[in-house]
Amino acid sequence: MTVQDRPLPTDTGILSPGNSDKRDELIEMLTKGYWMEIETVMSYIANSINPDGVRAREVVDHIEQDIQEEIGHAQQFGQRIKELYGVVPGSLEFRAGQSYLQPPEQQTDIVHVIKGVIEAETQAIEHYNRIIEFCDGLDLVTQDMVIGILRDEEGHRRLFEGFLREYQAEGLA
Ligand SMILES: [Fe+2]
Ligand SMILES: [Fe+2]
Repeated sequence: MTVQDRPLPTDTGILSPGNSDKRDELIEMLTKGYWMEIETVMSYIANSINPDGVRAREVVDHIEQDIQEEIGHAQQFGQRIKELYGVVPGSLEFRAGQSYLQPPEQQTDIVHVIKGVIEAETQAIEHYNRIIEFCDGLDLVTQDMVIGILRDEEGHRRLFEGFLREYQAEGLA
């Protein structure tokens, strides 16, 4: 167990002593977000390299661009954990969960990759909406940060939904 600093008390908001349980809960939610971003980076690196085929190129280019954004999200979650007097966890605490973004059997199976990205973005969207709701009237700074991240994830998902639609229109997905 890592020893955490304690904030200088304020009368209101997330740093007030009365909200210390909620602060712990929020740090846990932010830590989950942090790990989701880290795992997404791992999955996107693999899925930006593995695919074969002409049609995979466009998809792979976008996955590659997203990697940088997801790293930025992980850094933002980490910063906010620190600001809330938490500790950014070490790698030994990592647990994987993205079964849907494992490499497909055929590296030309780009539909598998597109669906995996959509699933990862959906899970992020759901978790970040929970954080935003939790922060309502409690921590508007975290809320503001996560709203920005949520917008990125919604944008990512929208793009890959468009890719999937094209394959569906051709009866390939
Ligand atoms: Fe992200
Ligand atoms: Fe994303």
